[in-house]
Amino acid sequence: MKKILIGSYIVIIIGVIFGIGNSGIFSNTNSKAIAAGEKVYNKNCLVCHGQKGKGEGPKVGTALNNQNFLNAVSDSDLYNYVKFGREGTGMPAYGPRLSEKDINNLVVFMRDWQTEEIDFDVPKTISGDPEVGMKKYNVYCLNCHGEAGAGKFKMGTALTNPQYLKYTTDKQIWITTAYGREETRMGPSLKGLEGVRQLKKEELSDIVGYIRSVNVKEDIPKDYLKP
Ligand code: HEC
Ligand code: HEC
Repeated sequence: MKKILIGSYIVIIIGVIFGIGNSGIFSNTNSKAIAAGEKVYNKNCLVCHGQKGKGEGPKVGTALNNQNFLNAVSDSDLYNYVKFGREGTGMPAYGPRLSEKDINNLVVFMRDWQTEEIDFDVPKTISGDPEVGMKKYNVYCLNCHGEAGAGKFKMGTALTNPQYLKYTTDKQIWITTAYGREETRMGPSLKGLEGVRQLKKEELSDIVGYIRSVNVKEDIPKDYLKP
């Protein structure tokens, strides 16, 4: 009995040493990247995305620190969003302006805002009817996101922007439509959640189908995009 006890103490002590050692190494490189990312952020992004990414900076960038957003995107999504930007919106492409390392540090810095793990309930496959989706979109989304998803200054982001669609999956669009982005004007749309819109799962898929089907060049009136 004594031997077993001593044995398990040793195992615990080794475990503790390893645990501390590992977390030390991890948080050390991580905290360096976070600090470096913060510098790049304050210099380049804060003016639009606000203090700690809470959005609504003086130049109306989106909120980046909300948990629904951070849970719906991977690190490589964040990387691509920053590198390639969103042509025709306020979001510049940083590929030509920042080094790979700077962008990677930014990603670590933004990821550090995530404090929650959220499991979204998403359909396995998202296939909707774009025509039904268009009707729903025009009733529930156009007001903020503009004609054919072109975006509206200070109201809603561009949903049919080519870079956004390239680096965002149908599931991700569905999740944001369903669950919204807490503490922004983008409220939830899924029936049962506390949103002004109470849409069914299939209706959300129809809307995603519509967003994917938009032909930016033909469907958005030329004089619409620029204020
Ligand atoms: C009251 C205005 C408003 C309405 C209505 C609205 N949205 Fe939004 N939506 C926003 C805002 C503002 C954001 C950006 C939030 C932020 O700061 O992150 C957003 C973000 C989004 C995003 C994420 C885009 C991105 O760049 O990552 C999607 C997808 C989206 N909305 C879909 C929809 C759909 C579909 C509807 C209709 C069912 C809808 N929204 C209705 C205001 C609105
Ligand atoms: C001039 C204002 C401006 C600057 C500077 C800016 N952004 Fe943005 N950013 C925006 C706007 C506006 C959007 C939303 C565009 C849209 O889809 O309509 C956006 C979108 C994003 C998104 C995608 C968010 C989402 O909801 O999908 C990320 C991530 C992001 N920006 C990160 C950054 C980082 C990191 C920097 C600094 C290197 C930066 N931005 C600099 C205005 C800006």
